[in-house]
Order: sequence, then structure tokens, then C-alpha cells
Amino acid sequence: MNFKKNPKTDFKKDLNKMTKQEAREEVKALREGIEYHDYLYYVKNQPEISDAVYDKLFYRLQKLEEAYPELQTNTSPTRRIGGQPMEKFKKVKHSKVMLSLKSVLDETEAKEFHRFISRNTNEKKISYLLEPKFDGLSVEIVYEHGGFQYGATRGNGETGEDIPENLKTIKTLPMHLRDGKAIPSFLSVRGEVFMRKQGFQQLNKERIERGDEPFANPRNAAAGTMRQLDPGKIAGRPLDILFYEILASEGMTFSSHWEVLKQFPEWGLKTNPHNRKVSSFEEIKSYHQQLSKQRNNLEYEIDGIVIKLDDYGQRSALGVRHRSPRWALAWKFPPKEEVTSLEQIVVQVGRTGMLTPVALLQPVNVGGVTISRATLHNEEEARNKDVRPGDKVRVARAGDVIPEIIERVKQPGKKRGEKFSMPKRCPVCGAHVFKEGAYYFCPAGLSCPPQLIGRIIHYASRNAMDIDGLGDKTAKDLVQKGIVKDIADLYNLSVEDLLKLDGFAEKSATQLYPTLCV
Ligand code: IVH
Repeated sequence: MNFKKNPKTDFKKDLNKMTKQEAREEVKALREGIEYHDYLYYVKNQPEISDAVYDKLFYRLQKLEEAYPELQTNTSPTRRIGGQPMEKFKKVKHSKVMLSLKSVLDETEAKEFHRFISRNTNEKKISYLLEPKFDGLSVEIVYEHGGFQYGATRGNGETGEDIPENLKTIKTLPMHLRDGKAIPSFLSVRGEVFMRKQGFQQLNKERIERGDEPFANPRNAAAGTMRQLDPGKIAGRPLDILFYEILASEGMTFSSHWEVLKQFPEWGLKTNPHNRKVSSFEEIKSYHQQLSKQRNNLEYEIDGIVIKLDDYGQRSALGVRHRSPRWALAWKFPPKEEVTSLEQIVVQVGRTGMLTPVALLQPVNVGGVTISRATLHNEEEARNKDVRPGDKVRVARAGDVIPEIIERVKQPGKKRGEKFSMPKRCPVCGAHVFKEGAYYFCPAGLSCPPQLIGRIIHYASRNAMDIDGLGDKTAKDLVQKGIVKDIADLYNLSVEDLLKLDGFAEKSATQLYPTLCV
């Protein structure tokens, strides 16, 4: 029986008419086959069989295990679905202390690390491994003779909580190491459990629909999931695991990290495709820049890069300080969240006449961009967030573009400003506003200047009339100086009119003029 290549699913033998030996052999072959197809599907992303065929193999294995309970094992693929609920987790001592990383934010500090390594490493040539720094949950996974034994959270670094049942629900975690060149008799590896952004959003959507509290971010969702006492509740949650260090091994030795990172996939342990081997600070810097730019397009959250000395001999010569190895450093990205003061809430009128409350902030640098305003979307949201002038607020760049206020940072005892409410009249033209759904509108149309400006900008834009030389600034100026009161006025402009605009000289005016006045 071989269920790896073109598996046959017309199982002839009646389950109850098999000898025990036959059942044992078939169970073994099915498990190997299923693990192989799991590996192709989850780790390599290259399935060779259809879901229907896979389901048949799985179903047959389930039935055999029911008929022959004595053949059941803890690491069977059928045990991934979620075991029995627990009262609490067992504590386990890690096979080796799980260290943490020293982290820095500035280039100068990162460079200092490189200088330190250069000064303290005898050989001229230094190789580094650069890896994304995941924002997930660090775990230890232990294999004995290639079989999964246990898996634990980092805990305090010395002891963590044994969470094998929860870990088993992660399909990319192999229950048996694949035959590489060799398998160590004992292997303890370190990796990160994380949740993809898309899966996180879907999970939160479902939680909100069920009336459960949503998770604050994918890291909390991954950690919360791993600490759930009832594994049945978490099967199917979109978790994944990537591996990045050997904590301990017996029966096999390695001399560099690069060697380990090449070995991992051969055992079926997934590594990050963004890992790079380099040898200069310039390369480190450009990797940092590059990943920082790519960060928002990645499927999962990262919060920096990890720089690791490649050579194990050099690593052990440097040793550990304050529970962090001297041979590694986390160079973080600028945070995407900051706290600042809300100075004022103004109401902006858009092209369609929609009124949007906007918070004016004390300018603050968030992830490399200065933010001085953030949208509050509508009256309800402004009131729910209950932010008022003078409050301290936590701001973030949502999807990394539009600044958003996440929450108010409470300051007990501090006297607060007025609660926000939408004005009864348009703050620009004074017309009485009306409400439609959650939004308010100014009814004045083109006699309300911001609506006219918005309309002109839209009219002149590339997707509409594509009028070269008529951008946002000019549109605003034309309306504010009273030169244009209607779209039609654009076609009655004189060169003299255009010369009244900011930044317009003879040349630019005569360039725009014929575009409009033909
Ligand atoms: S190596 C001693 N590599 O960062 C080195 N850690 O405090 C052991 N982390 O808790 C860690 N990505 O969860 C390493 N590529 C990576 C990592 C990584 C994320 C986390 C890990 C640890 C924290 C550092």
C-alpha cells in the first residue's frame, strides 16, 4: 500500500474482516500518505491530489482507528482536529533557555552592533543571517527520533506551558520529520506561531457577528488561540508556524545557522522565504529598508528584522548577556502607533456635500510619516470614541495610509473638553444640514465653496476631462478668489483671470488658457 503517489481509494477490505496485522499496515501507510499530502499542500503549496481523494484517505483512517482503538497514536493526523478540553496546561522546562533579543530602533545602534561583532570576532569574514522579525508567539517544538513529542510556549524563558493539542491544529507543523539526510535522535526547535492578516480579519468578523470581543491584532489572536484550553474550539483557525532556530539537538551537529536554515525544509519545517545571508552593514541596511517598505504587502505582521551571526563557533565565543545573545539583534521598524494630543475637531465638507469630523492633532511621527489630522468618519464614531479637544489619543496608520484614532488614552482627574456633536449648519456656507443614514450632508451644492472646489478638481482630473494645469491648488484658488462660481465659468476665463492666481505667471496662464478656451 502506498498512499503517496496516485493513491487508490477503492478500499476493498471490509474493516471488520481484516487481520490486526493488515489493519496495522494500512493505518501506517495511510498516516504516511496523509502526512506526505499535508506536507505538499501546507508546506510546499503544491498538492498532488484533489481534496476529495484526501478526504477519502482521511475518512478511511478515522474508521480504521475507530475499529482498532489500540492502533491510535497521539500524533495521528486524525488527532489534529482538537483533543479533549483541559483544566489547565502542564508546565514544561525547556530543553535550553529560550533567550530573548536585544532590540534597537536606530540605524546608529544597529551599526554599533556590527562594529561590536567586527571587533570581537577574530576572523576577517563575517556572515550574517537576516530574517524578518515576526510578531507572533514564540514556541519550542520537540521531536524524538523524528516524532513530535511536545510543544510549549516561551513562558519565562526557562519554563513554558505545554500546548501540544493546540499546536497540532496547525497543519504546517509536522508530526513526523521528513527523512532528510539524517534525523537527530533529539531535536528541539524554536519557531513562531502567527496568524495571517486576512485570516485574522475573517476571524474577528465572525467573532463580532457572534457577539464575542474581537482580538486587538493578529499577535493577540495567535497567542489567545494557543492558550485556549479547549482545542476543539480552535481547529480551523488560520494559524501557521515558521521555524528559525535550533535550541538543542543530539546525534547531529551544525556549524552555521545557514546550514540549519537549509536543513529545516528537508525535515518539513517551514522557514521564511525572505531569509538572506549577507556580509556587510550596507546589505543589512538595505534589507531593513526593503522589508520596511514591503511590510504592508506581506500576508503576516512583522515588526522589524533580526540580524544573526551565522557561524556557530563565533556565536558561542560571544555568549549571552542579560538573557539576550550577544550574537543577535532585532532592528525594529518605527512603530505604527503613537500617542499625541487632539487639539480640535473640525468638520470638513466634501465634494458630495458630506460632512466629516476630522481631528486636528499635535503633529506626531508614526512609522516614518508625520500625522497632524485623522478622520473620525462620522458623528456616531466620533461620539463612540468619545474623543474631545485636549484628550490624549492613540493614533495609527490604518492599512498604513489613512491616519486613524484608535482610542482615547484616559487621563484620570483631567478636566475634559466638550463632547462632539455635528453642527446644525454647514461650517462653510451656513446651509442647514440634513442626515442620511449615519452621515450628514450640506444641501447647498455648488454654491457651497468646498463642494464647488471638489467638483472642479474632479471635473479636471485625469479620469474626467483631464485638464492639464488645473490641479487642487488652482481649483481652490479659483473658487476662493471668486473667479469661478460654476463649472461653466471655467470656459469663460481670461488670461488676466488666471494671472490673479497664486503661482501663475504669463507662461503657465497662457498654457492653461487655450486648454480651457477653445
Ligand atoms: S531568534 C536568541 N528569530 O522575537 C534568539 N526570534 O525577543 C532567539 N522573533 O520572543 C530568537 N522573529 O518570538 C528569532 N526570526 C526570528 C524571530 C524571532 C520573531 C521573536 C521571538 C522572540 C522575540 C525576541
